Parts: sequence; structure tokens; C-alpha cells
Amino acid sequence: MAKILVTGGCGYIGSHTIVDLIENGYDVISADNNSRSNPAILYGVEQITGKKVKNYKVDLCSFDDTHAIFQENEDIEGIIHFAAYKAVGESVEKPLMYFENNLNSLINLLKCVQEFDVPYFVFSSSCTVYGNPESIPVTESTPIKPAESPYGWSKQMSETIIQEFAKNSSCNNILLRYFNPAGAHPSVAIGEMPLGRPQNLVPAITQTAIGRISKMMVFGNDYSTRDGSCIRDFIHVSDLAHAHTLALQFLENKNNNTNCEVFNLGTGNGVTVLEAILAFEKVSGQKLNYEIGSRRAGDVVAIYANNDLAKNVLGWNPAYTLDDIMDTAWKWELKLKADETVFGVINKGLN
Ligand code: WQD
Repeated sequence: MAKILVTGGCGYIGSHTIVDLIENGYDVISADNNSRSNPAILYGVEQITGKKVKNYKVDLCSFDDTHAIFQENEDIEGIIHFAAYKAVGESVEKPLMYFENNLNSLINLLKCVQEFDVPYFVFSSSCTVYGNPESIPVTESTPIKPAESPYGWSKQMSETIIQEFAKNSSCNNILLRYFNPAGAHPSVAIGEMPLGRPQNLVPAITQTAIGRISKMMVFGNDYSTRDGSCIRDFIHVSDLAHAHTLALQFLENKNNNTNCEVFNLGTGNGVTVLEAILAFEKVSGQKLNYEIGSRRAGDVVAIYANNDLAKNVLGWNPAYTLDDIMDTAWKWELKLKADETVFGVINKGLN
């Protein structure tokens, strides 16, 4: 059973990917310093899979601590690297924190990939690498424009570091460019647990609907889009998780032509912020309390994916709809409120 190291395994996409990996026969360990996550999520992973997943509470910015994981697990056959800061707005306010964390952790991991000869490396990249694209939907060969935020720059730089590393390495790498991950596992045993006030749209919607946030802001309705609000491609986190399993299998089956391949992971459907709010209200039956505010620095106006490559090459077929996203996200928010005991620590951190 191949052992996979998932960094950021206590995080939102990381925990959902661990579930999918286990369900597909992998042995998984996590490395997560829990600076932005709660290890309690692994109880939910165990509830779904029946497996206890070991988490190494390690800051990947420490080479020695990162190296120690590989010394203890010389049988790591693949790495899926999620651990990074990922809030566009916050990155505008704290650029150096984003560059230091996101780049140092990556470089330390790649040094270990080299030393321990790890054959497969899957990287959590982002559609933010495209900046404000000239045309949408974006394909993997859409010209990369200047990033709109330090977060986007950190992902562009990370991709370049991996591409250059791959030129002189036997490791096989895949860059997965996520669009907007949202929703929760259909069992509602795991979901998104933002620490403090959520930066992302869907948790902001559900926390407003449940009363944790009194009123949410829509950051701008004066963009050149069909209703003035930004356009995004919301992809269900469980669809996104399964793409990682498929990416690993793709590499294990030696189907890759180069040792650094890129795939867009989006549904191919562009949805405006206001349309997303309407979808939530329809699915949940809740009227959302929001107001239109000013634009948020760092926001891309409109982006959604051409996902043909992931479909045709990885055999990936996203199954969940926008309504499924809103339904599972809402059910998860209701569960968080009901299970304050289980997630008490995390809930106390919310405003
Ligand atoms: C979406 C839209 C906001 C909150 C995310 C991830 C990033 C990357 C790409 C994976 C924007 C608007 C939001 C709110 C709002 N994913 N919004 N009110 O910025 O597209 O980036 O997807 O790597 O990691 O962060 O997502 O959800 O923050 O914003 O109006 O309270 O919703 O202005 O137009 P974003 P987001």
C-alpha cells in the first residue's frame, strides 16, 4: 500500500483528499502545524474511512523538522503539498508572511524529495496564477499575467520553482490549478473550518446565514460582468479531492509525458458572486443578509476553467453542482453549530 504524505492534511482540501486517498487504497500521513487548521478534522476523516491518520504537527518552514518526517517514513512514495496560506485579501496586507511561508515550506519539501528520492509530487496551485486573464475560460496554456495579489505571486513563484526543480530531478510532478473550492463532504463529517472571520465567499455566506456573522459584504458590483459582481468557478471540494487521487494514479501508471504537468481543476462554469448567493438562498431557504461594499484589493474580475485536459487526460469528471456545494456547505455549518462540543475549540476561535 503506497504511503502518501499530505501536507496541510488537517486543512479543508487536505482532509477531503485524505478521505479520497484512503478510499482508493493509499496509506496516508499528514504534516500540518495547525496554524490555520484544527486536528479535530481527522476525527471526521476516521468517521468516514475508519482509519486513524497520524498528523506530524510540524512547521514545514523548519528544514530539520520537515527532514525528520522523511527519516521516520523512508517509505513515502508520494507527496501532495497543500500546506500554504491562501487568502487573497490577507496576502495583500501581509505579503512577506505569504512569501516566507509558502516558498520556504515548498523548498524544504523539495530538498527532502531530492534526498529521499520521492517519485511523485503533486502541488496545490491555483487559478490565481493566471492573474486577470485576457480571455476566459482559461486553459493550461492561457498566458500567465501578473498576479493580482501576493498570494497569486507566491503560487506563480512556487510553480516556477517546481518546474526548474523538475528539469534536474527524477521526481514526477503535477501542478493542479484549483478554481474556487467550496462545499463539504456529502457525509457532512468534514468540511471547511476557517479560523476567525472567513475570507472565502461560501463560508462567509453560511456563517452569515447561521448568524455567526451579522451581515456580509459583497465586495463590489461595479465590475464589467453580467450583474456587476465578480465571476468565479466554484468546484466541490470532494470533486477536487478525487482529482488528486487521479493525478497520483496518472503518475504511478507513468502516463505523464513530462515530469511537470499542469491541470486546471474547475467545473468550466462561471458563476457571479450574486448568483452564488441566490443559489444558496434557493437551496437553504435562508434569506441572506448582505450589502454591496467596495471592491476588495487583489480580486480578479472574472475567471473560470476550461477543464478539458483534466477530463480527457486524468479521466476526471466533476459530479457535484453549485446547488450541491451550497447544500453541503449549509448542512456542515448547521452541524458545526450543533456539535459545538466536538469542535468547541474551533468555534471559540470564530467571531
Ligand atoms: C471569491 C469572490 C470576492 C468573500 C480563492 C481562494 C484561493 C484560490 C482561488 C485555491 C471574490 C467575493 C468573498 C466575501 C465577497 N483557491 N467575496 N464577500 O479570492 O477567488 O480565491 O479561490 O487555491 O486560495 O482564496 O475566493 O472566496 O475569497 O472570493 O464578495 O465575504 O467572492 O470579492 O469576488 P478568491 P474568495
